[in-house]
Order: sequence, then structure tokens, then C-alpha cells
Amino acid sequence: MSEVKKIAVLPGDGIGPEITQEAVKVLQQVEKEFGFSFSIQYGMIGGGAIDRVGIPLPPETMELCEKSDAVLLGAVGGPDWDSYPPELRPEQALLGIRKGLGLYSNLRPVTLFAGLENSSTLRPEVLAGVDLVVVRELTGGIYFGDKERTTTPEGEVATDLLIYHEFEIERIVRLAFEIARGRKKRVTSVDKANVLESSRLWREVVNRVAKDYPDVQVEHMLVDNCAMQIIRRPATFDVIVTENMFGDILSDEAAILTGSIGMLPSASLGEGTIGLYEPVHGSAPDIAGQGVANPAAAILSAALMLRHSFGYEAAAAAVEQAVRTVFEKGVRTPDLASENQLAVSTEEFGDLVVEELRRTE
Ligand code: NAI
Ligand code: MG
Repeated sequence: MSEVKKIAVLPGDGIGPEITQEAVKVLQQVEKEFGFSFSIQYGMIGGGAIDRVGIPLPPETMELCEKSDAVLLGAVGGPDWDSYPPELRPEQALLGIRKGLGLYSNLRPVTLFAGLENSSTLRPEVLAGVDLVVVRELTGGIYFGDKERTTTPEGEVATDLLIYHEFEIERIVRLAFEIARGRKKRVTSVDKANVLESSRLWREVVNRVAKDYPDVQVEHMLVDNCAMQIIRRPATFDVIVTENMFGDILSDEAAILTGSIGMLPSASLGEGTIGLYEPVHGSAPDIAGQGVANPAAAILSAALMLRHSFGYEAAAAAVEQAVRTVFEKGVRTPDLASENQLAVSTEEFGDLVVEELRRTE
């Protein structure tokens, strides 16, 4: 018997509960197939937590995460809480949990599954061969810098501080080089060094770290150019490493390469041993509660958990293959289906993945 792995599941708001339910279902099937043992405990986070206890990240949720081996998160936020003060917004819980667990890196693998070329708004020939990973810095930069509002005689002034320490850049850049070593050995470092001082430091650090990885090819790219190249020639990218806000934006853009934002998983790793796994998308309030959300990103996030937190590579690959096979069979969730194509529900998609896992035995 393998040791019991403790998983904290934080479903969150909107489609969060619907999609995490399918990911949990898949994890439970993995348990059976591979003889693993998972102890799954649920916690509240985001708007739901605000409604129940008044704050987006209750201490008991943080404690649950801290005593777990890994965290599976759905998504937080929604229009119900949009008018709340900044410190009380659901999204604050994400920043709190990332900081609290020291999760400074966010890996977002962008893979195009066979057959989904036609679901993207981009031409299939542009998408052929897409296989990249965005390595986003997650606990620094403008999202975490001091924020301020002052009233002056000329009107309101708002400040967001973009700050990076050398060590923060170095650890994420090193990780990117390590990841590139296990892939196509190419790193694209994305910055705005023509105007931002923090980007100039970023570039210096990349050039220094690159010396330790002579086998890895490095290029620097300005973020505006990268935003263009990522949809112009996406297949030429391997590892894209960038700061917090640029990574946030570029990875949503990269989602289009996979056919839908509902396809993109992520792993957040850091100083400690606890990893956090969540889809890249948000709580999609526009489709919440309808059973139409694509749970693939959540299921693939669970696969990343198996790989990165538990070292269960075979199980991770089996889950990824099961998702791939379901798509290969022509199954589509509504976000990927063309007009006259029949789509399956969130739950049906999860059931089909479980079914495939059963078959791989
Ligand atoms: P979103 O990612 O929730 O939705 C953008 C669009 O993609 C919507 O049309 C939605 O229906 C669609 N979509 C997203 N996930 C999907 C899925 N699994 N299957 C099918 N379609 C899907 O981004 P939006 O609308 O900007 O934000 C909604 C809320 O989510 C906001 O409150 C925002 O702050 C929050 N948010 C939370 C995140 C998180 O929890 N990590 C990340 C991004 C946004
Ligand atoms: Mg985002």
C-alpha cells in the first residue's frame, strides 16, 4: 500500500464546484486503478466563504491547505462580490493562498489535443505542433506591490507598484531552464525591457542564469511582440518565462491555441512541498449551474498534481491519455462543439474520462 496523500479541495464559486467534482471523480478512479490512497477534504474559499464567514480565505481553509500534500482549486469570484472593497474580494483569496504557501511559480502547459484544431478560432495549419509551457512568476510584481489611492486637488490618483527582487527573478528563471531541459531546450524570456527597470533586471538575471544552461537556447522577447507571435507562430515556442501580470495575460491568450480556455490546467509550486492545482480559467458566472462547463482543465490540473506533487507519473500520463482519447472519439463539451455538433455535459465528460481510465487497466 502506498502512503495516504492528503488533498485539500477548494471548489469555490461559479463553475468551480461543477468542474472540481469531475476532477475528484477522476482522482478517485485513479485511486482504484493504481492502488493509491487519497484523503480528500473540502474547504471553502472565495465568494462562498465571504457569504458564510465574511472573508474570502478563512484561517481554517489556510490550515487545511497547510496540512495537506496538495490543493485542488476550482475558481473564485463573480458579479455578486464585484462591488466589495478590494481586501474583501474573492480574488484576494488566491493571492493569499499563493503567498501563504510560497507558490512563486505557475506552470501552464498549453497542449493541443488531436481533433481540437477545428475548435479554435485560429487556422489548423497555424496550430499544428503547438506544445508550449508558460512559466509565470506568481508572488511578485505589480499584483503584489503596494497599492495606494490618494485624492489631490487635480483629482484621484491611483498607484500600483511593480517591484521585483533579484532572487525572485532568479528562482523562477532557473525553474524555466530546468523545465526546458526536459523539453525542447528553448526558453523565451518575455519582458518590457525597453521601458521597465524591473524588466531590465529580469533580462540581466536571465542572461546570467543562461550561462549555467549552455544546452538551452535563450531568446528575449518584448511582451507586446510575444502577444503577437504567440498567435502568429505558436508552434515555435517551447518554454515562455515571464513576470506575474504578463504571464497572466499571455496564458489566457495561449488558451486559444487549445481551442478553449476550458482546456488549460495549471500547477503552482514553490518553496515548500505543497503544490496548488487549478484551471487557468475563472468562475465563468455566465455559464455557472448549467452543467455545460468544460471540466478538462480541472481534470488535467489533477493530472499535474499526480505528477508534480506525488510523483505518480504513470497515473498522470494515464489521465492525460484518457482525456485525449475522449476527444479523439469526437466527444465535445459545448465550448468546443461546432454549431451542429452534439455536446456532452460537464458530468458526462467526467464519466467518459473515468470510463477510459477503466479501460487502460
Ligand atoms: P472566466 O475565465 O471565468 O470566463 C471567460 C469566458 O470563458 C466566459 O465566457 C466563460 O463562460 C468561458 N469559460 C471559462 N471557463 C470555462 C470552462 N471551463 N468551460 C467553458 N467555458 C469556460 O473569466 P472572467 O469572465 O473574466 O471572470 C469571471 C470571474 O472569475 C471573475 O470574478 C474573475 O475575477 C474570476 N477569475 C477567477 C480566477 C481564478 O479563480 N483563478 C481566474 C480568472 C478570473
Ligand atoms: Mg487570468
